[in-house]
Amino acid sequence: MKNSSLVSITDYSVDDILQILDLASFFEKNPRPNFISDKVVATLFFEPSTRTRLSFETAIQRLGGRVIGFTDAGTSSVSKGETLKDTVLTVANYADLIVMRHPIEGSARYASEISPVPVINAGDGANQHPTQTLLDLYSIKKTQGKLENLNIVMVGDLKYGRTVHSLIHALSNFNPTFHFVSHKILETPNEYKLFLDEKGIKYFEYSNLDNAIAQADVIYMTRVQKERFSDLMEYEKTKDAYVLRRDMLEGVKPNMKVMHPLPRVNEISIDVDDTVQAYYFQQARNGVYTRQAIIAKVLGIDVK
Ligand code: CP
Repeated sequence: MKNSSLVSITDYSVDDILQILDLASFFEKNPRPNFISDKVVATLFFEPSTRTRLSFETAIQRLGGRVIGFTDAGTSSVSKGETLKDTVLTVANYADLIVMRHPIEGSARYASEISPVPVINAGDGANQHPTQTLLDLYSIKKTQGKLENLNIVMVGDLKYGRTVHSLIHALSNFNPTFHFVSHKILETPNEYKLFLDEKGIKYFEYSNLDNAIAQADVIYMTRVQKERFSDLMEYEKTKDAYVLRRDMLEGVKPNMKVMHPLPRVNEISIDVDDTVQAYYFQQARNGVYTRQAIIAKVLGIDVK
């Protein structure tokens, strides 16, 4: 395996993606192999996180590695005015791999270009969240038995949602049909629709969630991301537009699953949590196996 950063899901070929899913399955069955006991991994989180940071740190520890880093840039020398470049070059002296979340789009690409050690993008602004996408694909394959020819209903913040943007790119390799459900203000950006047009991938846009549900193999709910809005009036107009309730799941396909990258605010009613369709907490668990696989690949560890 080669040693390289993961910044965008488009850095990975279909073969790379399938290799990660295969490795994740291996790690699900073999959770604690000591593959990186000589490695230190830095987790630099310039934005809040629960799942991404903690599942990465769990993955590192299950692989036998050690973790350094910060969860709040305010406790680092960034608060004194240190640049991203100086932070990355300094931390690269201490760690074999950097996992970074940052609010600025393109920051992970920049870090990967200046860093002497590989960088994994744990989310850069509204741009990309490739490790979430890989765990989403793992979850889809695990529940649906395949990735090909699925009807994927994406709901909520399709404009700022980096998880949605990465997932559109990745799933486009597997002939999906997308059903985009969003408020007009938060619809899928044109660049993604043009990309799908060029690839000949079908997509439909809806303002009413009820009209999309019956076709779904997966409903991918997302949070309206208050932190990305420059105009809070627009947030107020859109924040309650779509709420998935238990009664809306009557008549869905037998194997349909509801996924969400989390955190949720109110877009999935808690009465959905104990339905057979709810999969979002198992999805978060899959993040550990998938991130073990990503770390192994990025560090060039021969697992099998
Ligand atoms: N899905 C996700 O990125 O969650 P966190 O923001 O909690 O890391």
